[in-house]
Amino acid sequence: IQTTFLMVKPDGVKRQLVGEIVDRFERKGFELKGAKLIQITEELAKKHYAEHAERPFFGELVEFITSGPVFAMVWEGENVISVARLMMGATNPAESAPGTIRGDFSTTLSHNVIHGSDSLASAEREIGLFFNENELV
Ligand code: GTP
Ligand code: MG
Repeated sequence: IQTTFLMVKPDGVKRQLVGEIVDRFERKGFELKGAKLIQITEELAKKHYAEHAERPFFGELVEFITSGPVFAMVWEGENVISVARLMMGATNPAESAPGTIRGDFSTTLSHNVIHGSDSLASAEREIGLFFNENELV
């Protein structure tokens, strides 16, 4: 059984997609272990996206993810890391299939509604960045 870190980005929260997104993972059969609405600080944003620090869009990425509250979540289930990525769809909404979250709810790469950990190591790292042990059941 795996756990992963998922986050509705500021665009998704503003567009009131939190309920729809939680619903999809619940109906799939995954189990919610923790969740909170938070305003990410610049410091946390830079840690979270450290792997992209050298990319030309890093500044934009940090600015966007700190532009409003996000809904941070920890989900548990069989193969939840890769299955959640499938349910999210391709990073670029121009390529994400209809039926996926990005495919159904977004049109732009920089505002693609949801984040999900891409590996066991990043799931562990990101859960540790966003949640204390006592915030998870
Ligand atoms: P996340 O779940 O958000 O990490 O997306 P991902 O794992 O599918 O993609 P990746 O980690 O490679 O990129 C992180 C985020 O950076 C993406 O979700 C995009 O929103 C954003 N991003 C990627 N490429 C670009 C770009 O060229 N310009 C801008 N502005 N944003 C980008
Ligand atoms: Mg990523």
